[in-house]
Amino acid sequence: TLAQNKATINAEGASITINKHIYGHFAEHLGRCIYDGFYVGDNNKTIPNKNGVRLDVVDALKKMKIPNLRWPGGCFADTYHWKDGIGPKGKRPKIVNTWWGGVTEDNSFGTHDFLNMCELLGTEPYLAGNVGSGTVQDLSEWVQYVNFPSNSPMSTLRQQNGREKPWNVKFWGVGNEAWGCGGNMKPDYYANIYRQYSTFMNGTVGTEKIFRIASGASSDDFNWTETLMKNIPGNMVEGVALHHYSVFGWGENAKGSATQFTETDYAHTMNEALKMDDFVQKHSDIMDKYDPKKKVALVVDEWGAWYNVEPNTNPGFLFQQNTMRDAVLAGATLNIFHKHAERVRMANLAQAINVLQAVILTDGPKMLLTPTYHVLEMYNVHQDATMLPVDVKADDYKVGEYKLPAVSVSASRDKAGKTHVSLVNIDAGKPQTITVNLKGISAKSVMGRILTSAKVQDYNTFAQPNKVKPAPFSGAKLSGDELTVTLPPVSVVVLEM
Ligand code: AHR
Repeated sequence: TLAQNKATINAEGASITINKHIYGHFAEHLGRCIYDGFYVGDNNKTIPNKNGVRLDVVDALKKMKIPNLRWPGGCFADTYHWKDGIGPKGKRPKIVNTWWGGVTEDNSFGTHDFLNMCELLGTEPYLAGNVGSGTVQDLSEWVQYVNFPSNSPMSTLRQQNGREKPWNVKFWGVGNEAWGCGGNMKPDYYANIYRQYSTFMNGTVGTEKIFRIASGASSDDFNWTETLMKNIPGNMVEGVALHHYSVFGWGENAKGSATQFTETDYAHTMNEALKMDDFVQKHSDIMDKYDPKKKVALVVDEWGAWYNVEPNTNPGFLFQQNTMRDAVLAGATLNIFHKHAERVRMANLAQAINVLQAVILTDGPKMLLTPTYHVLEMYNVHQDATMLPVDVKADDYKVGEYKLPAVSVSASRDKAGKTHVSLVNIDAGKPQTITVNLKGISAKSVMGRILTSAKVQDYNTFAQPNKVKPAPFSGAKLSGDELTVTLPPVSVVVLEM
């Protein structure tokens, strides 16, 4: 194949860091994410656990280098009253999970359980506060409960519940999807509510201020971002959120199957996913007007693919399989976040276990890693590395009405001086060759890993958990400052030089 695709990586003068927090995850009280996914009960004798948290899951997420975890929602967050989830478990009230399947929520997994689990995972917690149905006092007391060292009613209560030292939680969401399940608010109303709530979320973590994240827009709702940026002073907000799902349509069963799809369906999903680039650009442009120094982060705290639930599973549980399509989507999306690293400094894939585009699926004692997991694990070399700007001229990949770039590329240099290049061949029909001009990188050797499979529809099952897994890659050739890479159809490659 003749190399048509071309890219230039320019390392000269690179200075922007890829914040590790764009590799964050999301755990909602939804379906089998918390219960059965992360947590199997304190008295579980059959599945190895620590205080009910599955050790196989902890091990896998640590290997992936999970930097932060958002909890307890999602829509659930605006129904959650944190005081229901503290104190003796037998005395905690049982509630109805009104958003997700109407199931009983027994509150056996609460604040202590989550924050101790984050310590076990070595990850930073990101707590989403209840604005839709809570009170200013509730949220302000939650901050105090988890962060105040001593001598306050809330820190004393925490200590009575067995935790002496505060957890020092930095990341706080002020409501979720306030335009929808978080209260159906209009943007200017929410901006005022935000100002009120955030005023009372005080305190520091060490010497740092807490990091407050305003509930953000959905996809291309630019007016939402504009209204927030215009009405919330820069010293009252550290992050503004954005949610974008790759979905066919929101109607019941309109989303298509996660595993049975055509190449045109695949192109449709990818077309939705690649819109992230444009959305992030336009939201950033708006933020630049009000915040030219880029002090406020754009936090994409929900992203990923959303399909119909698997047959014979609870429609309210959002359980879906995960194929090579999702791996390609993850690789291409992370490349977009790298490109926008200056403004996008945090993101959360929805959701970690057994829900939407999960990295882990569980079935009783069994656990499997999805193709998406492997992409996040392979890409973790970019965490906190210096972003190297890439100029890509990609071939067209045409399917039906869709015309997509055939390849996606990003690059970074880590603290040890190694350069990593991530390449995705989006083309499901044929291999793609790309020549990459390396400016200011004196590479001596190249090695790499690849994630691919015979079909874009391939996925891992509990019977065959390793059908899709990374392998060594030898399709890259280095000649002076030019790199030539041949990528098989639907593949994700990470190179190290
Ligand atoms: O991730 C599932 C749901 O999607 C979340 O609860 C909500 O914030 C979004 O609409």
